[in-house]
Amino acid sequence: MKVVVTFPIPDVAKKMISKHAVLQCWESEEGMPLSVLIDWTTDADAILTTLTCPISSEVLMHASQLKIISTVSVGVDHIDVGAAVEHGVIIGHTPGVLTDSTADLTLALMLGVGRRVAEGDALIRSGAWSDGWKPNLLLGTDLTGATVGLIGLGPIGQAVAARLSGFGCRVIAWNRTVRSVQGIEFVDCDTLLSTADIVSLHIALTPETVGMIGQQELAMMQDGAMLINTARGALVDEAALVAEIKSGRLRAGLDVYTEEPLPLASELCELPGCVLLPHVGSATARTRRAMFELALANLFAGLQGRDLPARLGAN
Ligand code: GLV
Repeated sequence: MKVVVTFPIPDVAKKMISKHAVLQCWESEEGMPLSVLIDWTTDADAILTTLTCPISSEVLMHASQLKIISTVSVGVDHIDVGAAVEHGVIIGHTPGVLTDSTADLTLALMLGVGRRVAEGDALIRSGAWSDGWKPNLLLGTDLTGATVGLIGLGPIGQAVAARLSGFGCRVIAWNRTVRSVQGIEFVDCDTLLSTADIVSLHIALTPETVGMIGQQELAMMQDGAMLINTARGALVDEAALVAEIKSGRLRAGLDVYTEEPLPLASELCELPGCVLLPHVGSATARTRRAMFELALANLFAGLQGRDLPARLGAN
């Protein structure tokens, strides 16, 4: 059996995999070129990968022996899931273990944007904080008592709602399939967009959800409202969002972008009305370890023909 790993992994993990299979591991921090991925996976039984390595239908077409793709991520939008199903390839991912870290970071963005944390930090570092406490310095908005609209009410959306209850927020939500969760009012998407002080995205990126927050949806949001995105950049029309932030009408806290890494030339980088993070929703040492361990468990289960602990579609 052969396992292809598309990113550098610790020696201990290499030893574990090598006990079960021939291992071919991409050792560079630079992404693996498509031609190498195709070449290495033509005779591979399994791929261990991350969300920065697209597994396209082209790759799957050449990988005739492939049985399992195990990704160290909950999101699977980098994998052509339809083509994987067609080729009989099962997919393992890492739901659950990153829920709390991602929900924590969502709150960090809500508070960071509302209380202008990055602007305050920049003010001090630039030497521009010259006259001490002032009554109107960096006035922001309270999270306490805000109406927060969650688009997507899966585990992460629900974990965000649980945290918001501590802030006395009114939580409203929309989900593709209706979900009844105590303390959360289920509303339609338009009502959510036009009512919330903060709109937060917790929905998977699929062909149906690409661009779901476009110019029209952003225009429905209240003056001064905030968009938080810790899900996927392509859910939002980024150019339309830039225009709304530029005009001063909306604010945003973003962890994800249509293009990653976000180019420095992006207008977002010039706008003080947003806080930008480099896709670190799950980036705590504990969570990343748990994700890697779950991905390895998925990989080994797949290689041994057992049920995956976290198979896409089974949870
Ligand atoms: C992170 O974005 C993930 O999908 O795990």
